[in-house]
Amino acid sequence: MDRPQKAFSAGVLTVSDKGAAGQREDESGRVVEGLLKGAGFEIVKSAIVPDEQEQIERILVEWSDDEGLALIVTTGGTGLTPRDVTPQATKAVIDYEVPGMAEAMRSESLKKTPHAMLSRAVVGVRGHTLIVNLPGSPRAARENLSVVIPALSHGLSKLAGDPTECAT
Ligand code: MTE
Repeated sequence: MDRPQKAFSAGVLTVSDKGAAGQREDESGRVVEGLLKGAGFEIVKSAIVPDEQEQIERILVEWSDDEGLALIVTTGGTGLTPRDVTPQATKAVIDYEVPGMAEAMRSESLKKTPHAMLSRAVVGVRGHTLIVNLPGSPRAARENLSVVIPALSHGLSKLAGDPTECAT
């Protein structure tokens, strides 16, 4: 696997009405943190917010602009229920999308379940921070994150300004 040479900083944001109200354990957040740590990331921020677009946007902006995190991973709120607003919040704060990463997550996930097409997860860049949306269930979060982890280190190095040629 493509492991980071130095530990990139990461934040994990769980978006869940029930989680934020203390009515559900944040298993997905723990799964995401575990996978990222295993891939060499340093988790410096974690939080749970309800499915409220303004609150999600505020954290994404704070962790990008003030904390300067290399990576923010969100879990939850990417589907079709009326409360699912994580992709809208993400699109509102990013400078540009990285469509290939979202496409890769969906196409790999479709091999496991047709429900994968219901996730509207977005991946994009704000400043020097990559923001990755994942679905909310622990299994879906694990399966989707595992797809992009092998490309994260290279992508984040480039985002940080690494001018070296890409290896062929
Ligand atoms: N992707 C993978 N790899 N595995 C899954 O089990 N579940 C899907 C989908 N993506 C799933 C998946 C389901 S059931 C839904 S509704 C959407 O993600 C959106 O999930 P969310 O609303 O929790 O974000």
